[in-house]
Amino acid sequence: MFPYVLGLHNVVRWLVLLAGVWAVALAWRGWLGRRTWTKAEATASRAFVGMLDFQFLIGLSLYVFFSPLTRQGFGDMGAAMRDAPIRYFLVEHPVIMIGAIAAAHVGATQVKRAASDPERFQRASIWFGLALAAVAGFVPWARPLMPSF
Ligand code: HEM
Repeated sequence: MFPYVLGLHNVVRWLVLLAGVWAVALAWRGWLGRRTWTKAEATASRAFVGMLDFQFLIGLSLYVFFSPLTRQGFGDMGAAMRDAPIRYFLVEHPVIMIGAIAAAHVGATQVKRAASDPERFQRASIWFGLALAAVAGFVPWARPLMPSF
C-alpha cells in the first residue's frame, strides 16, 4: 500500500503546483491590470485550495499510517531529531506544508470577505502567493519527480 500512497502524493504535488501557479497568475494579472473578478479567478482559487486539502489528506495518511520514515522517527524521537532526512519528513515538511495550506484557506476567506475586486485580487495575490512559495520551497525535490511502480 505504501508505494501507491507515496506515488499518489508524488503526482498530486504537480496538480497542487499547477493549480497554484494558475491561481497566483490570475490574481497578479487582476491586481496589476485592475480587472474584474470573474468565474475564472474563483475556479482557480477553489482548485488550488481543493488540491492542497487533498494533498494534506494523503500526506497525513503517509505520516500517520504508511511511511516507514515517520514510523522509525516515532520509535525514537531523540535519534530522529539528530537525523536530518528523518527530521525533515517528521517535522519540517509537514509543518511548513500545513502552514501553506492554512495560508491558502485564510486567503480564500479573505477573498470572500473583500468589499471590492481590487481588494479581492490583492488578498489573493498575497495569500496564495505565500502558500505557493512555501509549497514550492518545501517539496522534497531530491526525491523522484514521478513515481516508479
Ligand atoms: C501541498 C502539500 C504537500 C506537497 C506538495 C508534498 C509533496 C511531497 C513529495 C513530492 C514527497 C516525495 C514523494 C516521493 O518520494 O515520491 C513527499 C513525501 C512525504 N510527505 Fe508530503 N507534501 C505535502 C504535504 C504533506 C503533509 C501535510 C504531510 C503530513 C501531514 C506530508 C507527509 C509526507 C511524508 C511523511 C512523506 C515521506 C514519506 C516517505 O518517504 O516515507 N506531506 N511529499
